[in-house]
Amino acid sequence: MELIKDTIVRYKKIYGSDPAVIVMAPARINLIGEHTDYNQGYVLPVAIDRTIIIAAGNRRDKMLFLHTVDLQASISTSLSHLEYDSAALWSNYPKGVAFILQRLGYHLHGANFCIRGNIPIGAGLSSSAALEVASTIAFNYLNDFKIPLIELIKISQAAETDFVGVQCGIMDQFISLMGKSNHALFLDCRSLDYRYIPCPDKVRLVVCDTGVRRELTRSAYNQRQLECEEAVSELRKGYPLIQSLRDVSIEQLKEVEQQITPVSMKRALHVVSENDRVLESVKALENRDYNKLGRLMVESHDSLRDNYEVCNRELNLCVDITLGTEGVYGARMTGAGFGGSVVCLVTEDAIDLLVDRLRSDYPRQVGHSLTIYLASSGDGASIINPKVSMIPTSVAQL
Ligand code: GLA
Repeated sequence: MELIKDTIVRYKKIYGSDPAVIVMAPARINLIGEHTDYNQGYVLPVAIDRTIIIAAGNRRDKMLFLHTVDLQASISTSLSHLEYDSAALWSNYPKGVAFILQRLGYHLHGANFCIRGNIPIGAGLSSSAALEVASTIAFNYLNDFKIPLIELIKISQAAETDFVGVQCGIMDQFISLMGKSNHALFLDCRSLDYRYIPCPDKVRLVVCDTGVRRELTRSAYNQRQLECEEAVSELRKGYPLIQSLRDVSIEQLKEVEQQITPVSMKRALHVVSENDRVLESVKALENRDYNKLGRLMVESHDSLRDNYEVCNRELNLCVDITLGTEGVYGARMTGAGFGGSVVCLVTEDAIDLLVDRLRSDYPRQVGHSLTIYLASSGDGASIINPKVSMIPTSVAQL
């Protein structure tokens, strides 16, 4: 609440009036189901208690003013000339949302945004999707568009694919809006059917941010998608009904092994096996079989390391350290990879020992420290109308 109040105070200082709305949208960790969403597969993310906050208000002109408290930067742009800004990467997410809304035919008022948050940037916890979701909700509220939930999610995703240029799936934006505290969300990224699965607090999620950020994430990510497509195109020759790797079995994949590149084969193997692992994980979580869930997480990491090739030395080391610690059920990289974070599933009792080991072993081997968070699951995006009440209302339940 302190962070929210402070964001309101700063908004007033910068723009000279009260904000009309405060929007909060959370980060996520993904328990399992990595690089499956854009292959129309399954994912199992959890919204966490780290969030982006936007205090927003309307303007009379057609300008968009953006200020980020954390990066201490501001930009302003006309809503009729929205362009990608490589010198202010953070600004592309709200701008991208405005761009998509206008492309869809919505007429936007000018707006002022004061943005802040406590999600580490580039840590694989999806700060960008949280910013997109918060921006979409803010524009929706300020202009009284009454856009349905699923469209809010798709608009947020389109800001990333069509304006920012990362051909991402829908997982991050979906969980940021639809997350539910003490639950993981099992999502079918083709039908968008979803189900909440209770996450009892007997097991805890420890996030280890390796501190490694990769510049090339965008091109490497898009490249992976093309490699998956290559396998699908070949498979379609024999099985015309196949739309994506979601529809493919390991046996079918083996049939085309000689026709596709070894790289494409490895990527497809990861996706096909990862979808199965998500389904198994859902059962394990429902049965409270954390040993099984942990094992599946480790298999997922191994496949992301060997087949999808999105793990670096630091991520692998982090997983190795955690797995050698008593009380750890499993660990894996979370998010796109190429740097970022590892998520560990542990018993409450194991946390202290795990933290000690990470803090001593990791820096010794890589030469720099890592940041450790104890993540609690949280709710999806919410809004506050400060004139009415300071109690947040969940957007999914509006
Ligand atoms: C990023 C993308 C998601 C998803 C993950 C990998 O977080 O935004 O859509 O593809 O990578 O699972």
